[in-house]
Order: sequence, then C-alpha cells, then structure tokens
Amino acid sequence: WDLMAPVIARINELKAEKGAVILAHNYMTPEIFACVGDIRGDSLQLAREAAETTAPVIVQAGVHFMAETSKILAPEKTVLIPSMEAGCSLASSITGADVRLLKERYPGVPVVTYVNTTAEVKAETDICCTSSNAVQVVEHICEEFGTDQVILIPDQYLAKNVARMTDKKVITWAGSCEVHEQFTADDIKEMRDANPGVVVLAHPECPPDVLQEADYAGSTAAMSGYVAKEQPRQVVLITECSMSDNVALENPDVEFVRPCNLCPHMKRITLEGIQMALETMTHEVTVDPVIAARAREAVERMIALPS
Ligand code: 13P
Ligand code: SF4
Repeated sequence: WDLMAPVIARINELKAEKGAVILAHNYMTPEIFACVGDIRGDSLQLAREAAETTAPVIVQAGVHFMAETSKILAPEKTVLIPSMEAGCSLASSITGADVRLLKERYPGVPVVTYVNTTAEVKAETDICCTSSNAVQVVEHICEEFGTDQVILIPDQYLAKNVARMTDKKVITWAGSCEVHEQFTADDIKEMRDANPGVVVLAHPECPPDVLQEADYAGSTAAMSGYVAKEQPRQVVLITECSMSDNVALENPDVEFVRPCNLCPHMKRITLEGIQMALETMTHEVTVDPVIAARAREAVERMIALPS
C-alpha cells in the first residue's frame, strides 16, 4: 500500500484536473476497483453509466470492447483505455463479415450479440445483451420479430445456458471465454467435498455442466448482489480471481474459497497504466462514426428494456 498510495493520490488529482471518471469493471484488482473507480459494476452497469455521465473524459478500467461500448454511447466524450492490448477471447472470435454470413444463412432470424464483441460486430446486430439480461433480450426480440428462433453470438456456452431457460431455438457461434471455459463440473464437486456447505455461484460464460453443479448463476453484478443479500457462511465464485477480492471487501463476514482463473486481458490494466493514461491522455479509443451509429441502435435497444 505504501507504494500504491502516491499513485492513487495522483490519479485522484488527475481525475479532477481532466474532468475524468473511471469506469471500473468487477474484474479489476481491488486497488483499482475500490481506490480509484468512480463507477463500478458489470458490463451492463458500466454501459448504462457511460451513457449517462456528464464528465468529458472516461477512463475505461476494463477491456477494449467495454471502451468501445462507452464510445458508442458517448461519442462526444474522450474515451481512454490504459492498455490497447486488453482484448477478450470472445470479442476476437467473430467479425462483422462472419455475422453477415450468418444472416444470409438464417434469413429473418434476429441476431442477439453479447456485449463482449467489437463495434463492427454490434453494428450487424438487432440487439445486444449481457450475461445479466440475455434470457430477457432473447424473449423480447423473438416476440418483436414474431419468431421462435434466435441467433445468439458469439459465446457458445452463454447461448447453451440461455437455451435451457427458454423455449426458443438458439443458434450460436463457436466463441468462448478463455477464463470461464477452464472450469469443470469436477472442480465444483471437489470444492464441495473439501468445503461442505459451500455455496457455489457461477458465471453464465461457464460450460453448462458447470452451471448445473452450481447453486446460482449470474453476471458479476448478480453474484455480488447474491453475496451481499444472502451472506452465505462460505462461498466460491466460479469466475475471474479479482471478483472474490472485491466482493470480500464489502462482506467481511463471508469466507471465500479461492480457486479462480485470471483474465490476462483484464490484468493488463494497472494503477500505473491508469495514471499514465490520464497524464498523457492516451490511448484514445475511437469508433468509425457510421459503425458507431449502427452499433448504438443495438446497444440502446438493450438499455431501453426494463431492468
Ligand atoms: P459481466 O457482464 O458479468 O460483468 O461479464 C463481463 C465479462 O467479461 C465476463 O467475463
Ligand atoms: Fe473476455 Fe473472458 Fe476476459 Fe471477460 S474474462 S474479458 S469474457 S476473456
């Protein structure tokens, strides 16, 4: 903390100087999440806040697709990301051209795109979803299109998990999250054997057999809300490692079992990187205005649904 304190103080000074807000995803390390994050949450919460903030500068403490989403929703603002290398295996699994081919193959079938995608992919889409509203979005768009089929891309596991919760036919893509796909149902059985009574919460990007072994599935915000409300004696969050650190800070009476997987992309965002981004006003994230306008429609359609 002694080493971090001056960096945290300087970042807080720079925020005031530059009129910046820091949007911090739940997977940021605690010193970012708790000490410099102004707005914290899951992908949906960060997208909503990006649309609403009056600050002229947004620093995205998260990965590149999140910064693009902020720029799409707030085109007049300067959006900075501390590392241009902070990607996502889901976002890189599909291109706009791939979506156009899918639409040719399934004419008239609505396309729902997970927010973990590039602006170019969102631009080819009817509506976006996040892990906290995917079922609601699928049912809404099927009703609007008068169909019982939907294309939900690019996460094959999210799509399979959604398919189990709706009677719609879900067509998907072969994308996956390199962090969540590593968890197995056997991992959970072993955790339960070693920690009798442990409550298991899992992210919907995990494979379906993992979710079947879990007590509850939800987005990062939903998991955090579950712990705050239920105060389980002992819990394991089947997701990225920093989640437990951040949720533990606010729930001192809950014991966290910690096998977890790190997201190398999220971990490219550091306190030093945030300070540098603000000092030098880099790296600015831009989106072609024509693509941004088309992508905005898909994101705004999602945001307009009741939460
Ligand atoms: P959430 O929308 O649940 O925050 O998930 C984002 C993400 O990248 C999960 O891996
Ligand atoms: Fe992408 Fe998975 Fe990392 Fe989230 S945890 S940013 S889905 S690679």
